[in-house]
Amino acid sequence: MTDFSDIQTIEHDIIIIGAGGAGLRAAIECSAQGKNSGVVCKSLLGKAHTVMAEGGMAASLGNADPRDHWKIHFRDTMRGGKFLNQWRMAEIHAKEAPERVNELEEWGAVFDRTKSGLINQRNFGGHRYPRLAHVGDRTGLELIRTLQDHGIHQGFDVHMECTALTLLKDGDNISGVLAYWRDSGRFVLFKCKAVILATGGAGKAWHVTSNSWEYTGDGLAMGYNAGAELMDIEFVQFHPTGMVWPPSVKGTLVTEGVRGDGGILLNNKNERFMFDYIPEKFAAETADSEEESNRWLNGDTGARRPPELLTRDVVARAITTEVKEGRGSPHGGVFLDIASRVPAELIKKKLPSMYHQFKELAEVDITKEPMEVGPTTHYFMGGLRVDHETQETAVPGLFACGECAAGLHGANRLGGNSLSDLIVFGKLAGTGASQYVDSLSKSLAINQEQVATGIREATSILNRESGKNPYLIHDDLQTVMGNYAGIVRTEDDLKKGLTELARIKKDIEQVKAPGASQFNPGWNEALDLSSLMIVSEAVTMAALERKESRGGHSRLDYPGEDSEGLKYNVIVSKGENGMEVRREPRDTPPQELSRIANASIDDLEAEVVRERNNG
Ligand code: FUM
Repeated sequence: MTDFSDIQTIEHDIIIIGAGGAGLRAAIECSAQGKNSGVVCKSLLGKAHTVMAEGGMAASLGNADPRDHWKIHFRDTMRGGKFLNQWRMAEIHAKEAPERVNELEEWGAVFDRTKSGLINQRNFGGHRYPRLAHVGDRTGLELIRTLQDHGIHQGFDVHMECTALTLLKDGDNISGVLAYWRDSGRFVLFKCKAVILATGGAGKAWHVTSNSWEYTGDGLAMGYNAGAELMDIEFVQFHPTGMVWPPSVKGTLVTEGVRGDGGILLNNKNERFMFDYIPEKFAAETADSEEESNRWLNGDTGARRPPELLTRDVVARAITTEVKEGRGSPHGGVFLDIASRVPAELIKKKLPSMYHQFKELAEVDITKEPMEVGPTTHYFMGGLRVDHETQETAVPGLFACGECAAGLHGANRLGGNSLSDLIVFGKLAGTGASQYVDSLSKSLAINQEQVATGIREATSILNRESGKNPYLIHDDLQTVMGNYAGIVRTEDDLKKGLTELARIKKDIEQVKAPGASQFNPGWNEALDLSSLMIVSEAVTMAALERKESRGGHSRLDYPGEDSEGLKYNVIVSKGENGMEVRREPRDTPPQELSRIANASIDDLEAEVVRERNNG
């Protein structure tokens, strides 16, 4: 067998793959638990999709509205997720988010303030109260900056511009990671006792996305290949508002904060169309007139919330319908107008990035004219199936947190719940992995055969005489996912999608990157394709399996929620003969949590008041 002793080897107790909010928070916790850990990131430290959660992080601090409480945040999260959320994760998240946000402040995060000097909170879709702690429209950036500044003093190492390729196992247990440095093309072996995956989603499987180049589903695919299960991966969130023009920036996020701060959606007839799309379930909490919406905007706490703040799945579908039925804007979106509602100075103060983004990229002054917006692939609700407390997958020593882990958000994530997810479950993953390392009684070895296979697969892309162009394959895959597994789906389309993916899979087997491994963007691109393929196939197969419409998963041939759909999760795993998909019955909902989630809002608010009065 080939001798790999000349490959650079780096040893840590715990390897964290991904340096977004979840990865950094996990690494901080590993250090706090006395573990020697290393963060491996594909890009530069600080460059993460976390920054695309612009409008804020949800936590029931009760600063902007003292009626808020974890129970109401929990209820909102469950309703937003169409009750498919993992109950305990939603409970832990709602309970622990305030502490994690306050901790960020202690670590130096500079939040916007209320008049009395508390962390300010803004409105977002599906949240009963203004709940999003924010820093203008750059909250994700501030979260990363804070974790980075705090983290570098905690003693973990950061291995940047390093792409993880394969998880290595000793028997059933994780024992290392094979990776390569993107600049030199050299391989590196990380020996470790546990791995935490914090690699985010796979928005780059679609053309129109808020995600940047890194988001190719690497962690999802590595976990799947190592034997972990993917859960509810059919639920992909199309954020309602991405830029639609000019083409070079199509998909770039337009924060929900615009609507949270008063922006409204209009079609080409100047109609505020969201009034026509209020689901029965949310009617009691949603304003059905311009007049009531205006009262809400002016601070009347008795008024119901504007329909633009319905959950993202509802708003994205409404926009898609308006465009399809010919009421769209010139470039295939709708209009988002804040200029006519909010004074220019306030727009610049609360939404500085949006102001500059539109001014510089689209030559639109959002303080004077409406923006053109449309849905953009933003977020994976599904991901690796994990234990709700430890974040461990089915593979001993393999943990996952943040967007690449499933459970918290069910069928649809509420805006702002991702930043709080990252810090709540990043910390738990750090604790879970550290405890696992403490409990390990055997020493682990690197399996040289697995290393050889990983290297052979990666270098075959360079070594074959001729082959397919990786950029064209990626483009093809994005077209297929957009056409057949997009915002609305049918059995016919999904089946066609699978046929097309099978064709593309053959192309990937023949992909060729010319040149050597050093500084080779074509090779980097080609290496991402196998992860993109695994995730695309998993999404499409799971979408075929779920025969109902729920949250982010819309089936034209199965419109509406089916009560059966609440009884199972869709699980995708690697079988002897390839990818397998099955339904797995969900646990019975914990009684008390079920009561809270199903309570009427009036009853729950009264309960919270009673609890507070009783101390
Ligand atoms: O619209 C936004 O600012 C995105 C936030 C999120 O995805 O949580």
